[in-house]
Parts: sequence; C-alpha cells; structure tokens
Amino acid sequence: MSTPGFDPIVVEAASQAQRDAADPARSVFVEANAGSGKTRVLVDRVARLLLGGAAPERILCVTFTKAAAGEMQTRLFRKLGAWSVMPDDQLRAEMAALSGGAEATHDLAAARQLFARALETPGGLKIQTLHAFCESLLRRFPLEAGLPPGFEVQDDAVKGVITEEALQAVWGEAARAPNGDLAYAIALALNAGAEAPAISLASPWPAVTSCAPAWTPPGRWTR
Ligand SMILES: Nc1ncnc2c1ncn2[C@@H]1O[C@H](COP(=O)(O)OP(=O)(O)OP(=O)(O)O)[C@@H](O)[C@H]1O
Ligand SMILES: [Mg+2]
Repeated sequence: MSTPGFDPIVVEAASQAQRDAADPARSVFVEANAGSGKTRVLVDRVARLLLGGAAPERILCVTFTKAAAGEMQTRLFRKLGAWSVMPDDQLRAEMAALSGGAEATHDLAAARQLFARALETPGGLKIQTLHAFCESLLRRFPLEAGLPPGFEVQDDAVKGVITEEALQAVWGEAARAPNGDLAYAIALALNAGAEAPAISLASPWPAVTSCAPAWTPPGRWTR
C-alpha cells in the first residue's frame, strides 16, 4: 500500500508486523505507540476470523472504553460494508493485502456476505467494554454471583441522586433529634475532622454542624 509522506520500506515493514499480529492462528500481545495501527490490527484480525469461517456470535472483542468499542465496531462494519459492494479486482487485492497472500481467499462471494452475516447474527457480533461484558455475565448468573436477578447498574448520574437522597435522610433525622445517637455520631465524626458532605440542605445541616463542637453527649455515652 502506498502511504503518502512515509518511507515505503518503513510502511511495508510495519504492515508486515501488523499482518503477523492480525493472524488469527497466533496468540499475540501488541504494545505500540498511539496512532500506530493497533485498532487496525484488531479489526483485520476479526475480519480474517470471519473470512476463515468463524461464526460471528463466537467472537468477543473486549475494550476498556465505550469510545474504543464504538470505533472498532464502526471500522469493522465499514470494512465489511465496503467489501460487499467492491468490484472483483479490488476485493481480490484487499484479500491479498489482508493476509499478505498467506491465506488469500478467492471466495469473493463469501467475503461479500460477511457484512449481512455479521449484521444478522442473533445477539450481534460482540465488541464491547470490559464492564459491559462483566455485566452480561452477572445478568446470566446472578444467583451464583450473589446478586438479585434483574439488578440495575447505577450510572454516575443516578449514583449522585441516590447518595444525595441518603444524605438528606440521615442529616434530616439527626436534625430532628439533636440529642439522639445519630446526631452524636455525626458530631463525633465532624469533631474528628470528617468532611461535611456537599449536599443541598436548607436548614437541618447548620443545626447539626452547630451542635457538634459544643455537643454534650447523653449519659450513656460518657465513661
Ligand atoms: N500499515 C498501515 N498502512 C497505512 N495506514 C495505516 C497502517 N496502519 C495504520 N494505518 C492508519 O493509521 C491510522 C491510525 O491507525 P489506528 O487507528 O489503527 O491506530 P491506533 O494505534 O489504534 O491509534 P490509537 O492509539 O489512537 O488508538 C488510521 O488512519 C489507519 O488507517
Ligand atoms: Mg486505537
């Protein structure tokens, strides 16, 4: 492949290393600089697995971020989509470039059908984040994992709301009974240097904080 602005010898050496890493028959760990072609290797590897007859639902690609999963999926489908409408000569050249001739498939019809096969696979070809994959496992085996079936995962926004509600409830209760155990526990924590939570309380919060320094413990707390 000619890549404008780059020494063709360097490009060919890099491309050969990429082809080696994208060979599904090898188990490979790739560590390479930003922008050097790692995603390309992964996409080519999946494409070669599919060309070799692997069932799409048997392939799992795990990434760390949603952005990386989205990019991989987009690039894979773009490649397969392009193959489905490519003229024969061009498609044959793509196949040869993909494997460096090592496993050049001449079954162009099969290559063209990969796009539809991958799209129609029940459950889809799985390119997902580590978190999504783990969640899908927990959903399949909730009892083994000690979770209630049908559990919900909190995202950051929901987590903020639930935390605020819990804090409101605790502080509200402490403010209603300033001589109670809860107010005492909070006062102790504040006196010991605990940071007051940043919650949007109107009146209960000052009442509790002001009771902290001068708070007299009830008899049963004193030694
Ligand atoms: N051998 C190659 N010949 C020509 N272009 C290539 C080659 N390898 C990668 N590229 C191009 O270089 C760009 C970066 O590739 P890619 O996104 O795969 O790199 P990356 O290592 O995953 O990057 P990042 O670190 O940002 O995730 C893409 O446009 C890709 O098409
Ligand atoms: Mg990448």
